[in-house]
Amino acid sequence: MCGIVGYVGPQSALQVVVDGLARLEYRGYDSAGVAVLGEGALHTEKRAGKLANLRGALEEHPIAGEGAGIGHTRWATHGAPNDVNAHPHVDNDERVAVVHNGIIENFAALRLELEDVGCKFISETDTEVAAHLLSTELARHGDKDLAAAMRAVCKRLEGAFTLVAVSVDDPDLVVAARRNSPLVVGRGQGENFLASDVAAFIAHTREAVELGQDQVVELRPDSVRVTDYDGNPVEVNEYHVDWDASAAEKGGYDYFMLKEIVEQPRAIADTLLGRLSVDGALTLDEMRLSPEDLRSVEKIVIIACGTSYHAGLIAKYAIEHWCRIPCEVEVASEFRYRDPILDRQTLVIAISQSGESMDTLMAVRYAREQRAKVLAICNVNGSTIPRESDGVLYTHAGPEVGVAATKTFLTQLAACYLIGLYLAQVRGLKFGDEIEAVIAQLATMPEHVEKVLDTVEPVRELARSLADADTVLFLGRHVGYPVAMEGALKLKELAYMHAEAFAAGELKHGPIALIEEGLPVVVVVPSPQGRSVLHDKIVSNIQEVRARGARTIVIAEAGDESVRPYSDVLIEIPAVPTLLQPIVATVPMQVFACELALAKGNDVDQPRNLAKSVTVE
Ligand code: G6P
Repeated sequence: MCGIVGYVGPQSALQVVVDGLARLEYRGYDSAGVAVLGEGALHTEKRAGKLANLRGALEEHPIAGEGAGIGHTRWATHGAPNDVNAHPHVDNDERVAVVHNGIIENFAALRLELEDVGCKFISETDTEVAAHLLSTELARHGDKDLAAAMRAVCKRLEGAFTLVAVSVDDPDLVVAARRNSPLVVGRGQGENFLASDVAAFIAHTREAVELGQDQVVELRPDSVRVTDYDGNPVEVNEYHVDWDASAAEKGGYDYFMLKEIVEQPRAIADTLLGRLSVDGALTLDEMRLSPEDLRSVEKIVIIACGTSYHAGLIAKYAIEHWCRIPCEVEVASEFRYRDPILDRQTLVIAISQSGESMDTLMAVRYAREQRAKVLAICNVNGSTIPRESDGVLYTHAGPEVGVAATKTFLTQLAACYLIGLYLAQVRGLKFGDEIEAVIAQLATMPEHVEKVLDTVEPVRELARSLADADTVLFLGRHVGYPVAMEGALKLKELAYMHAEAFAAGELKHGPIALIEEGLPVVVVVPSPQGRSVLHDKIVSNIQEVRARGARTIVIAEAGDESVRPYSDVLIEIPAVPTLLQPIVATVPMQVFACELALAKGNDVDQPRNLAKSVTVE
């Protein structure tokens, strides 16, 4: 939520910053702006709307500058998304410029205090207080020490913030501070970078530096200095980013989302890679929890938001089935406010693609305070949630730029299955060959997903034919229910349509009243093998809605002839074990939502009002 870029070095800061913003636009696209230093002055340009508007403005009024630069792409919190509220914000003398990600919770009191001493506010944002405070503190430090001024400002702010600032008095310096919101440094040769996400600078460098909580960084062309808020130097963790720059390109596709859907087989394979050791045991090398820790677990609580929450709902079925440990799943934003019962024997699994969702991060902190052990499933290396957890299993989906999660969801599922199997292994609940057998089934998932992708053209046609529908309902049972929820979420996010998922068994307890002539109802059908009771029950549910006029779109295993008579449209998926079916059943729903949204003319990479990483509560 909000993307931030900073650059200092010999290249054109304007170019580097605008290119960086293009890679961070998924974090917010309500407005974009830049500030560059040059010839003793601060040059800023900012525009409401997407980055294209800023680029247009910069073409009309080019700004010059050889010094450092900062940029921002906004997801609005305080103040409407207009030009004035766009970042950067400057002080009244236009000597410092600031960009911000997060919310300054005590901004109203600070604003009154600053107005009392004569500061003129022009925007409605919380960020502008930081610009005025910084200028006041800078004056106190003889206009010399921007980092000292930043440290002093941070001590006065409450809430979540990453602040990045430049000052005309030191044109080869960018200073940033971090509390809760993400920020990472990119180390170059004679140049340095700062961004909310490595994607902004991997075209220039893949050497990164993690910043911790409550730290301030001073970036010059040849140095990176990190201190705490008292000015004491701190040790930093440096790492190499293994994503290459092309991974964050569209690679010939019109939209990132289309590319990311197609990348799913590879992403799943990469997440599973190297997990089985030669002796057949499952090894999760990024797991910092000991087998003893895991053997003592009496309850599992999974916390997550959005699509990651749906992965958690599916994980519950697998973990409870394989490990016989009670498992609760909860949206992270509700978790800590209900006084949950946690103790040392509780394992909390936090699922987050970005590793930065504020709701999940706060839930993780709460769980650790209560002495629970926390295991994170994340896609972004070095992000905050894995750093603050007791263990992490990284998914290896590569960068996901489309705001609606696709490949990261399937890799989260793969990661959840691995954790379930690992728990069963360390608790002695499964023999090695049983685990190997499930791993072998998991290993076939990439080719099954490939097969689904090869046969989804009819789904695209169907989606185009439904572009004018007002509502689509989704039904599922067992693991098919969270899959239905994910299908409905994709449709809401991308096509802005009313889409709702129900547990098929609940249908008769109310939702069936919604069914009317021609209403599209998507039904996820469990495999007829094994749990056939479940299968037969859902076949009855399909008949119930069809009898009331619904147009049934049925996702079922290839060869399941029992559903054909009741399906207006039948979408066949490969036969796989029931617990693993979500991996293949989700794919047609992603394609369906994406195509329907495109038919409506929507931007599927940047759906309205959304941001990929929600870093405010
Ligand atoms: C936002 C995104 C969703 C995502 C959710 C959780 O709402 O738009 O696509 O599922 O955040 O994000 P996380 O990074 O924690 O998985």
